[in-house]
Amino acid sequence: MVLKTGDVAELLYYGEKLSGDFGYAQIGGDNSKNRNSVDDFYSEKRLVSSCGDGTNRETMINFVSADGSSIFRPILKSYKILKEKPQLQGMRSSYGESECLQLIYEDEYSHVTAEQYFSVFADSDVIATYIKLNNDGDGEIRVKRLMSLQLDLGFGKFTARTLNGRYGMERQVETREITPGTFGLSSFSGVSSNSANPYLQITKGGVHGYTLATNLIYSGNHREIVDYSEVAGVRVMSGFSDYLCDYPVKSGRSLCSPEAIFTIGETEEEVNFAMREFAKEHVIRPQWKNTPRPILINSWESFFFDFDEKKMLDLCDEASALGVELFVLDDGWFGERNDDASSLGDWSENKKKLGGSLGDIAEKVRSKNLDFGIWMEPEMINRNSELFRSHPEYAMTNGNREPLELRNQIVLDVTKKEVRDYVTESIVSVIEKSKAKYLKWDCNRGLYELTASGTLFYDYVIALYDILERVTAAFPDLIIEGCSAGGNRFDLGMLCYVPQIWASDNTDPRERLKIQEGTLLAYPQSSVGAHIGHNPNYHTFNSTSLKNAFAVSCMGAFGYEFDFTKSSAEDKREIANQIKFYKKYRSVMQLGKLHYADKFCNGENGIWTAVNEDKSQAVTVAVVKDYVLYAYPHRVYVDGLEESSVYDVYKVNAPEYDEEYAFSASGRDLRLAGFRIDNLFTEKNVGSDFNSVQTSTFVIKRK
Ligand code: GLA
Repeated sequence: MVLKTGDVAELLYYGEKLSGDFGYAQIGGDNSKNRNSVDDFYSEKRLVSSCGDGTNRETMINFVSADGSSIFRPILKSYKILKEKPQLQGMRSSYGESECLQLIYEDEYSHVTAEQYFSVFADSDVIATYIKLNNDGDGEIRVKRLMSLQLDLGFGKFTARTLNGRYGMERQVETREITPGTFGLSSFSGVSSNSANPYLQITKGGVHGYTLATNLIYSGNHREIVDYSEVAGVRVMSGFSDYLCDYPVKSGRSLCSPEAIFTIGETEEEVNFAMREFAKEHVIRPQWKNTPRPILINSWESFFFDFDEKKMLDLCDEASALGVELFVLDDGWFGERNDDASSLGDWSENKKKLGGSLGDIAEKVRSKNLDFGIWMEPEMINRNSELFRSHPEYAMTNGNREPLELRNQIVLDVTKKEVRDYVTESIVSVIEKSKAKYLKWDCNRGLYELTASGTLFYDYVIALYDILERVTAAFPDLIIEGCSAGGNRFDLGMLCYVPQIWASDNTDPRERLKIQEGTLLAYPQSSVGAHIGHNPNYHTFNSTSLKNAFAVSCMGAFGYEFDFTKSSAEDKREIANQIKFYKKYRSVMQLGKLHYADKFCNGENGIWTAVNEDKSQAVTVAVVKDYVLYAYPHRVYVDGLEESSVYDVYKVNAPEYDEEYAFSASGRDLRLAGFRIDNLFTEKNVGSDFNSVQTSTFVIKRK
């Protein structure tokens, strides 16, 4: 990025690294000649925009001063390079930066200062940025909008890719042309949402085209704006949402935006790769970076609410024999919770159901050579609960107005300290009593009781982070898996605290393909909870063989969600083989570098390869979603290998999951020419699959 400093910081260039041999002055030329009418403010690509700055378009910073004025004309006063960025108020951010550029803007009339930070990383092309607004005046200001990032891209032919969806269809890749006008991504429910993930990707066509991506390290309402002005071209912004935002900042106080990240590359693949690697290296906590995630069995699709000690332990016996490593006791273990209408908030065990205390059952699970994990939904309360009866004021309600109950539950007002303390202590006590290694942290509804509408959405997130901060400090080695009615809160803010997030309640491999492909544009495979669910699938009634379900789930934080005691001997043999295979290549598939060769969102088949650090091993999965007459052979390209090395390619055969040698080729030829596979939709292959996908898996090893 080349910036020109003057009254403003102007973005002269953003792209591949320049040599700068003769300086950079020629890139910007002398723009002062253009500055003779108000319209000419449009000609600069600025890093900051605000109300009253001379451009009538979407702006980054809007607030109202005590005198009622909304004008903010920030003038760049100073800049310097810091070794580290200052800590963001109230939230975590990326870490491991090598340098940080600080720009300070002042406006002598409003007495508000904006500090803008750009952090760079030695091993990554991703840049992280945020803004801190300081009220240095005497009166209070009311912030209406504070974006984290603004990038002016000028003119061209642009397309955008975004991750939209709904429950059970999270992060579907949407592609659209950017035309004059404004479109955006927004969430309104207090969580980052399944309707619009904060990840945004923009591709510019043409000879000097590129792809650029942004994301936000934040878990609440967010807003990304793509504003195509016919006078100034495309502006992209990302930040916390201004929906209802009216945030008072008193004299001497500040408000901090969350951190946004962005990157640019020649191709979409390059930026997806950079975003995944960045999340792994600079967002997810260091202890999880290279730590393989355990193979788990989750009780939800096995039993829902209907279980007792025997059912659990029988499942554990089977799971343990198959090689599973962790048993997760999902919803239904506490209070009187036999359906979703009661007990949220009452985090003491139902001894009748568990056949003893939480500590006892956890111990029994461990005696079967499995770790113990547990589900909680800490931010919620049911009206029918001891907690509501004793502390109705903990629920987020508005006086006598009847609160909306969704899934029969109300949100706890964690913006109150005593409620945060209660929630934190409840989690700590459950983990201490059970000595759980894993916690599934669910959140099954959004915020609709807008009791402090101007501040609530932001404060809620800061409160949530405070609880997460305390829990992760108390149990640094606890694996927390984020969850929110499936994948309704899958974002980098959560990944600062939790190393993995449940991607969707929809475990149908055919649907999962699209959900995971979208998720993997922005997030690393180790963070994506991907289980083989009940067959036929509970949501879609499609049937998928274990082989094909495995191929779809194996590049993720893997597990199972069905009752093994009901599985046939043949299926159990296959599951045991899958697990053996998974353990052998887990570090490649979960933690390796992921390369897509084909994508469904491009109208192709799905082909992806995970490669280990030294490029000596890779696993490639090819998935064909639909049978198209004569549309084969399919070609599998393998990206990410060492070009000059020779590799042996092995086909993985189910149900044994043995590796059958196929051929040898150089890394370069595997990337450029690939290899051919025949029609996967043969009568034999399709077998017991119904409306499902066909897959082929390969292991690739350096000679
Ligand atoms: C949500 C989650 C599920 C499960 C249920 C339990 O829907 O996404 O995985 O934990 O809650 O009630």
